[in-house]
Amino acid sequence: MKRPSEEDIISRIDAFPNIPSAAAKILSLLDDPDTSAEQIGEILRYDPGLTANLLKLTNSSYFGLPSKVGSVNQALVLLGWKKLAQLILSACTTAVMAKPVPGYDLQPGELWRHSIAVSVVAEGLSRELGVTGVDEIFTAALLHDVGKLVLGDFIRDNTSSIDDESLREVSFEKVEQRLFGIDHAEIGARILSNWSFPETIITAVRWHHDPDAADPPNNLIDVVHIANVLCLMIGIGIGREGLQYTPSEAATRRLGLKGEQLEIVAAQAMGWVEELSESFSVHFEEEF
Ligand SMILES: [Fe+2]
Ligand SMILES: [Fe+2]
Repeated sequence: MKRPSEEDIISRIDAFPNIPSAAAKILSLLDDPDTSAEQIGEILRYDPGLTANLLKLTNSSYFGLPSKVGSVNQALVLLGWKKLAQLILSACTTAVMAKPVPGYDLQPGELWRHSIAVSVVAEGLSRELGVTGVDEIFTAALLHDVGKLVLGDFIRDNTSSIDDESLREVSFEKVEQRLFGIDHAEIGARILSNWSFPETIITAVRWHHDPDAADPPNNLIDVVHIANVLCLMIGIGIGREGLQYTPSEAATRRLGLKGEQLEIVAAQAMGWVEELSESFSVHFEEEF
């Protein structure tokens, strides 16, 4: 099988589906703290399915709001604009992340479950660590592996070469770099860049396997990195990537993360995943 050229891969990134127009409009308002309920309502008005999904997500037992939210206005008051915007983006990208992932040995829905798990673990770690100013953490974690949806096709077509690689000795993204000259983290960053996502989220996706290479490293990248490794360690979404992941020691030090904090979050992760995943309306395609 002929290995794809860099142009083949880049043209596939550029052909990746756009996010729904509602998400694009939300992104354009993201930095405006004065965004009103009317503006959000106007965007969501043309997408009743999205509004329903957003309210279902907002009412998830995971978020534990004191009362049921019945309108966008109420959600804005209870959550604040930054959090609500992240939930809208999450609801918008559900359909993309629920797609089958050929090449990575992930069952239908497994990448979705892994993505949800990394999101709740990343939020849990932020709470444990008292890390602030990371509103985007949920969205960044939810989308950290979006690049697999592009690279998966190429991996499926090159499995014979991959099986020859010494997978036990190197991490899977190193195998991707060796075979294709690019890894799923970089591809994910380029997809989000095409979608005009904020640079903070793009950077977290780009460096989620190599947080020490970020210039400069930051809490958002470090937390998404640790959350991803923790989810792989507890067995959520392993697939072809295998078990050769350990958290970056430098990231652990930068965050001041202690072993018992990891244990506290790991112990609760499954419960959070269950609470949250039932609130997303996800349809998994069976066909690869
Ligand atoms: Fe990854
Ligand atoms: Fe991951």
